[in-house]
Amino acid sequence: MRWRRALVNYLIQSVSAMLAGRLASSLTFVLFMNLANNTVLLTGGATGIGLAFAERLHAAGSQVIAVGRRADKLREAQQRVPGLLTHVADLAQPAARVALAVWVQREHPRLNVLFNNAGI
Ligand SMILES: NC(=O)c1ccc[n+]([C@@H]2O[C@H](COP(=O)([O-])OP(=O)(O)OC[C@H]3O[C@@H](n4cnc5c(N)ncnc54)[C@H](OP(=O)(O)O)[C@@H]3O)[C@@H](O)[C@H]2O)c1
Repeated sequence: MRWRRALVNYLIQSVSAMLAGRLASSLTFVLFMNLANNTVLLTGGATGIGLAFAERLHAAGSQVIAVGRRADKLREAQQRVPGLLTHVADLAQPAARVALAVWVQREHPRLNVLFNNAGI
């Protein structure tokens, strides 16, 4: 049954190639993730770890939109990171999450990264 062995070999090679391709693309993403030219929605971006990521992503050349509840903290973050965009929203509220999604789609249609940092 030579044709059967050939078919099995073909299937094994196809599956291996597919898995290798996925692994390669995952590794490429992890190793060479491009921090520039993204539009990033960063929840909790006004303080702490979120602010540090906002600074880093902004310095790398991405547009960052920081979201939080306290407008004063967002303003402080803006002074520290010139060019930082901000949006006030309480993400614990379902209606606020929907409103944020609508706002982002309208105002920042090029958004390509969601960084969900605010622990809620
Ligand atoms: N620091 C650590 O050692 C540590 C360790 C492990 C994991 N983490 C996780 O890492 C994340 C950041 O930690 P962090 O220490 O930087 O905390 P943080 O300084 O308290 O920052 C949390 C941010 O999230 C915002 N936020 C909280 N609730 C929100 C809500 N309902 N809607 C919108 N924004 C909200 C806060 O702004 P407003 O209050 O103005 O809304 C604040 O800017 C959290 O998820 C935390 O659980 C931290």
